[in-house]
Amino acid sequence: MAHGLPPIGRPRLEGKVAIVTGAGSRAPGIGNGRATAVLFAREGARVLLVDREAGPARETLAMIEKEGGEAEVFEADVTVAEDCAAMAARAVDRWGRLDVLHNNVGIGGRGSVVDLDLEEWDRVMRVNVTSMMLASRHAIPAMVRGGGGSIVNISSISALRPRGLTAYSTSKGAVIALTQAMAIDHARDGVRVNCIAPGPVHTPMVASGGMSEELRERRRLASPLQIEGSGWDIGYAALFLASDEARYITGQLLVVDGGVTLASPAR
Ligand SMILES: NC(=O)c1ccc[n+]([C@@H]2O[C@H](COP(=O)([O-])OP(=O)(O)OC[C@H]3O[C@@H](n4cnc5c(N)ncnc54)[C@H](O)[C@@H]3O)[C@@H](O)[C@H]2O)c1
Repeated sequence: MAHGLPPIGRPRLEGKVAIVTGAGSRAPGIGNGRATAVLFAREGARVLLVDREAGPARETLAMIEKEGGEAEVFEADVTVAEDCAAMAARAVDRWGRLDVLHNNVGIGGRGSVVDLDLEEWDRVMRVNVTSMMLASRHAIPAMVRGGGGSIVNISSISALRPRGLTAYSTSKGAVIALTQAMAIDHARDGVRVNCIAPGPVHTPMVASGGMSEELRERRRLASPLQIEGSGWDIGYAALFLASDEARYITGQLLVVDGGVTLASPAR
């Protein structure tokens, strides 16, 4: 169509092939990666569910297949270049193209520069930043062959409002810079690159750390909206950025936090 926008009333990712990294969940429940994969499939994408652990990714697959969607589990470690090359190749082999890369994998990292462990610092940078570079490096050529694509990177409000997780905050700040740099590098090839900064959403990532009900309630009340965010809130933001509805948006940071970074009683 002349305006290049998706037709009204059709699935929002119809005909697209997507890779979601970290598409399982570290514990039972709905993580950001799982929610995003389910929403992509619900809107017509065929989704490669990449995870280091096949078991949780298979649970995501079951959710998608139950709704009539199409997906496949791909066991891979996104910190390994060969795995990133293999996952892009698998998406193209199976479905003939690659349109969307959702870089969701990320791990926490506590402490200040004085007390953090150097090996831990390196690990956080590798898992949170280098993995996104590697996954993108191998996905972009396939996207370009198909006429363009969309990459969504998961940052965090920890990059904007640090709170004692210095390695994590630094890595998530790097994700924002990486997003902007890639957006410029690949714009001419029709590849858009954006990122999302989730706020304190309640996912297995935080719940599995043994969060008390009291802290959970404090997190809910910390946002001006006073509602608890979930993996679905992140997934819906990713769905928009991945789709052609966002065709005029690149290099941007979308904060999904109930307003926490603007005003919070904890400040
Ligand atoms: N939950 C929050 O409050 C919050 C806030 C801000 C940002 N985030 C970000 O959201 C993202 C994660 O969300 P989630 O809920 O899906 O997390 P999760 O930890 O539940 O799931 C991530 C999945 O990634 C997989 N994984 C980990 N390392 C991997 C690797 N090297 N290669 C392949 N797979 C790997 C795990 O096996 C797991 O299934 C992270 O980037 C995190 O920093 C979360």
